[in-house]
Amino acid sequence: MLSTHQPLVKIGEPFIILSEVDSTNNYALKLIQDGLGKNGTVIFAQHQTKGRGQVGKIWQANVLDNILMSIIFDITAIPIQNQVGLSFLTALSCHEFFNKYSKDGTAIKWSNDIYWNDKKAGGILIEISAYKNSRFAVLGIGLNINQIKFDKSLPNPVSLKQITGKEFDVINLAKELCLIIEKWSLIFNQNNIKELNKSYNKVLYKKGKEVTIKKKNIKFNCTIKEVNLHGELVVENGIKKTYKFGEISWVV
Ligand code: BTN
Repeated sequence: MLSTHQPLVKIGEPFIILSEVDSTNNYALKLIQDGLGKNGTVIFAQHQTKGRGQVGKIWQANVLDNILMSIIFDITAIPIQNQVGLSFLTALSCHEFFNKYSKDGTAIKWSNDIYWNDKKAGGILIEISAYKNSRFAVLGIGLNINQIKFDKSLPNPVSLKQITGKEFDVINLAKELCLIIEKWSLIFNQNNIKELNKSYNKVLYKKGKEVTIKKKNIKFNCTIKEVNLHGELVVENGIKKTYKFGEISWVV
């Protein structure tokens, strides 16, 4: 049951389409700092000139081919310790959406990459910004849809078109993704992080499998156990170890 005090958030009202922008996350952060941060606002770009990825990387995407969007999410009422749920809810939504079209094979690679088999189909960049007494999250989503040629520097990209052989209407797809985010955000707004975490772990990439990870240039093998309620990766190689985002990287 939904608790009565939690508002239903419409994701994609308004749905702003920009033909070109440096980064939809930058645009959303600017709206917030200008006092124009409205819960559920979506900024969709046909082209990003300076798309940003995790850990300071660049997010490359061809013009008009992909989903490049950012969602403004009011998290003022969310306890800080539950903010980790933003990552779960965004990844789960992208997973559900992509898996519907890829017809299985999609997984969430910790912390929030969207993988199809062993290839990266999308990424998520979540940023937090405060304005007066309010706190906002910007959920930045990049999903490869119609692009079939990628920069050689990218190790393992894949798109929906490469998987299905079909061409898609990216704006319609982005709006569909908004509805899925709306559904998962109800659970987030109820502060039900346990349920989000459980669902996340069900579709975690390489769960129960042995992988190679790298910490400070030292490689070692371990088994992926789960992602805990704090969003940390739990692995085992003799003993259980827990890693925060940024502490380790995967050897793909
Ligand atoms: C990653 O490194 O995997 C995260 C990539 C996130 C890219 C998206 S595209 C829309 C939004 N705007 C940005 O500048 N980045 C995010």
